[in-house]
Amino acid sequence: MNITWFGHSAFLITTNENLRILIDPFISNNPVSPVTVEELYADVILVTHGHQDHFGDTMELANRTGALVVSNHEISVYLSKQGFETLGMNMGGTVNVQDIKITMVNSLHSSDMDFLEEVNAGGSSAGFILELENGRKIYHAGDTGIFSDMRYVINHIYNPDIALLPIGDRYTMGPVEAAIAAEWINPEKIIPMHYNTFPAIEQNALEYSDMVRKSNRDVEVVILEPGESYQE
Ligand code: NI
Ligand code: MN
Repeated sequence: MNITWFGHSAFLITTNENLRILIDPFISNNPVSPVTVEELYADVILVTHGHQDHFGDTMELANRTGALVVSNHEISVYLSKQGFETLGMNMGGTVNVQDIKITMVNSLHSSDMDFLEEVNAGGSSAGFILELENGRKIYHAGDTGIFSDMRYVINHIYNPDIALLPIGDRYTMGPVEAAIAAEWINPEKIIPMHYNTFPAIEQNALEYSDMVRKSNRDVEVVILEPGESYQE
């Protein structure tokens, strides 16, 4: 399994069965993305919420690759009306896509589709838990503030192995909250995201890693540069 980060919250997860799962494909307007939209392929695209820095290039990618788009109900309705192949879901639900289980979980954020001219509610923002065919579980938190169900739902029920957590502050948790989230979620590994894309969310990931190490020695923070991969 391979997890490649393109900066911000955009990840490509390639499973051992070669299923390509693209999450929050913010590429063409992403100042730190090392790849172009044209270079990317996906079988499935997961969208955590409607903000343009997450929805990103979803339509262009889905158009070209025929990827299935998994999102909340409201974004799914918007896309299906335009002919995209979609799978809409909501909090607490799980769907099977090939051999992967995808669960939508809460996030503490908003979700309006801010790139549209007309007002569009965009439903609720979300995170995803992916259970791969080998049993490994990856949690992509989306944009979120810290919330107590990271302990009582995310950890207690799903117990993810790898957590992709925002640390940028201002629009999401900052490093202090994300270090407490690390204790509550208690994964094996954390890959920090949603930082250093723009000046407003500049953070030092090494300082975050130190904070996590002090409070929970069992959690390893894996710091990626945009374009780098974590592999296992
Ligand atoms: Ni957002
Ligand atoms: Mn965001």
